[in-house]
Amino acid sequence: MDTEAILKKLTLEEKCALLVGATAFGTREIKHAEVPSLVFSDGPHGLRRQAEGANHLGIGGSLPATCFPTAVTLADTWDTGLVEEVGEALGEEAAVEDVNVLLGPGICIKRSPLGGRDFEYYSEDPYLAGKMAAAYVRGVQSKGVGACVKHFAANSQETRRQASDSILDERTLREIYLAAFEIVVKEAAPKAVMSSYNRVNGVYANENTHLLQDILYGEWGYKGAVVTDWGGSNDHVAGVAAGSHFEMPAPGLDSTRELIAAVKDGKISQDLLDRRVSEALELILSTHDATANAASSFDEEGHHAVAERAAAAGIVLLKNEKAGEKPLLPLAPKTKVALIGDFAKEPRYQGAGSSLVNPTKLETLLECIQDSGLDFVGYEPGFERSGEKNAERAQAAVALAERADVVLLCLGLPESEESEGMDRTSFELPANQVALMKQLSSVNSNICCLLSSGGAVATDWADEVPALLYLGLGGQAGARAALEVLTGAQNPSGKLAETWPKALADTPCDGIFPSDDADAQYREGIYVGYRYYETAKVPVAFPFGYGLSYTTFAYSNLSVHVKQSDVKAGKLPTATVTFDLKNTGTRAGAEVAEVYISKPKARIFRPAEELKGFAKVALEPGEKKTVTIELDERAFRYFNVATGAWEVEGGNYEVKVGGSSEHQALKAVVLLADTHAPDPYMGRNIPEYRTGAVHGIAKEEFEELLGRRLPEPRVTLDRNTCFRDLNHGRSPIFWIVWLVLQHLVKKGAKEGRPNLNVLFIYNMPLRALAKNAGQFVSMGLVDALVREIQGWGLCGLVPAAIVQIFAGDFFLLVWFLWFFAPLAYELIKNLVLNARGEKLLAAQDRN
Ligand code: BGC
Repeated sequence: MDTEAILKKLTLEEKCALLVGATAFGTREIKHAEVPSLVFSDGPHGLRRQAEGANHLGIGGSLPATCFPTAVTLADTWDTGLVEEVGEALGEEAAVEDVNVLLGPGICIKRSPLGGRDFEYYSEDPYLAGKMAAAYVRGVQSKGVGACVKHFAANSQETRRQASDSILDERTLREIYLAAFEIVVKEAAPKAVMSSYNRVNGVYANENTHLLQDILYGEWGYKGAVVTDWGGSNDHVAGVAAGSHFEMPAPGLDSTRELIAAVKDGKISQDLLDRRVSEALELILSTHDATANAASSFDEEGHHAVAERAAAAGIVLLKNEKAGEKPLLPLAPKTKVALIGDFAKEPRYQGAGSSLVNPTKLETLLECIQDSGLDFVGYEPGFERSGEKNAERAQAAVALAERADVVLLCLGLPESEESEGMDRTSFELPANQVALMKQLSSVNSNICCLLSSGGAVATDWADEVPALLYLGLGGQAGARAALEVLTGAQNPSGKLAETWPKALADTPCDGIFPSDDADAQYREGIYVGYRYYETAKVPVAFPFGYGLSYTTFAYSNLSVHVKQSDVKAGKLPTATVTFDLKNTGTRAGAEVAEVYISKPKARIFRPAEELKGFAKVALEPGEKKTVTIELDERAFRYFNVATGAWEVEGGNYEVKVGGSSEHQALKAVVLLADTHAPDPYMGRNIPEYRTGAVHGIAKEEFEELLGRRLPEPRVTLDRNTCFRDLNHGRSPIFWIVWLVLQHLVKKGAKEGRPNLNVLFIYNMPLRALAKNAGQFVSMGLVDALVREIQGWGLCGLVPAAIVQIFAGDFFLLVWFLWFFAPLAYELIKNLVLNARGEKLLAAQDRN
């Protein structure tokens, strides 16, 4: 049946019920109209298909699936072909497990190394993130299932993630936080987009007409569906009106009733509802065959091999200095190596939260080293993962290091540091790991550190070791991949997709990230990552786009041909960049060639350079290839807030080609015509934005950029009050709830085992109670709770006292009724209405 025919068969109740989840990960099946349930599943770096009793934060295990490297390591490959292959494998696994839509990729921009979900996102650069995401989506969707790009938009911190308000100027929004979404939408047509939890400039993303109507559907011509993040809907009616389709997970029938009422009251027209329903049906029907006709199993070994190739290609060689005659790496066969560090036995291979995958198998360095061809002299854990000091472990490791030619020292961030639901609290590696490295280097200077983390860490200690290999979070096959690189079976070719600063204090949003207030001010503007470091000339530990190889490459013969610079016809210029790349060493290898654009003496302030193209090129020793990279219409443009359009400033541009954001071997200059837009910053007092020195930038200058004043953040007592703010309420009962949560959060942090469910609730606004547990909690009940928090319960002391004085000993009873009766009423009302609604839907389905 097609969508038109189905639409005719559906009742108003069914249409509205179709737009809300019926289970934690599924929509409602409507048998008489042949509408199957749509099944979503996390995502992004492996399938997290949960069995019975699913809870979206991981209560209840998930079925085994291939755990691919997380986004950070996939991005470090800079290999779109390989990422597409990973996508294909993911799509196949999704179909086999009856999953219609995979909840990935995550493409939020990394504002700071402290971002709790940085491991799940690709880059600080929107061009790279967009290209990676497009490849992933193409791969997944080639198998007939849908990919769901998330989280749309400006969702870069976990602290207060469900209610925080991301405040940013329109240019920063467009150039940095939306640009990756624009690329993936235009180039890969994802079937679904997940709206983020947060507000963007005051309006929740899921009901933000500027984001959804003006930009996503309007400017970009998006044709797919929008799904809320889990529990992220604020007002379903407003969401549907703005262009959102599915409210997830399972809010009971409360939202359905709201939608029905909105249609009946004319707040939402029947036409608009029909449009949303047919768009929703389009997603359901177009992904149905893939799961209905899928094979019963997938090739586990084959997918493991893809995971291994991706992990190897994403490893970044950060340092490889001489140990004697030659660089320490690669290790010759039979080199006597000691393996030290807890991570060798229990690898850090993925992050925590909704992306947690139950791998089909998990390789460790300790197992894989046995058949690596190296002379393995022994293993010692060396340190406690928890960060506690353990002198015995350290001594045993030192004794082992003395017996080896080379020490492979596995360091990294513990699991508790990187998780959805919380931001990192430190940029440093645990001190006991660094102390061990120092002890080892006093007995053996040939140390290669293997670093596992989902993001940048401080590396001030790295001066003391000759070799440093960044493994990222390599997935289930990461260990063998690391050994391939160590032994030279694979020549490292990964490059950093984010800058590694020297210190946290050097980062552009230092001091304001993560924001603990109700709003998150993106004061650094467009100066994110290398855009800041290069413009403000802040030295870094390892630049964006950086990574070494066991061979060397030479760039030559750059030519740039500008096309379509026909600005009168409304076309922005594009260009073809051509150059020669030669492998000048003795080993086969691959180089990521990066193209950056600069506009010297720009009138409209802009970053010193921006990535606009790249290619990963494999070369045999001595081989030379001519490489061509096309720069699209996004290469030279900037967003002009006065015209509300993309414009080009006329004049000379530098096109620079090379191996990192810090070093480009080739440069050409091209002249571009102006689109003659007015200078939107004329007369504005924004000196730091003009120079890029935005670290610590004052609120006043940020307001000048925004063009409006920002109110002082204050806690309000309403549906969106977060549990973490209940202490501001006027209800002793909720003060107790707050105290318990505080205790649990602190306990988790102290023990190094943060409880994700507790953190989820801690950062959760009250209305999310209804959105996550709608079978019991309606918005009516939430409103009753809000009244309690506003002081309804305390007011009840007055009638209780009056009754006590005039009618005897009923003080507690009256107060108890005063407090609980409204809650009980709303609870019962919701249960009754839900049951009636279900009965009606069941009856309609029988007819
Ligand atoms: C996360 C999403 C995830 C969803 C379902 C949310 O908490 O933010 O990324 O897809 O849960 O598990």
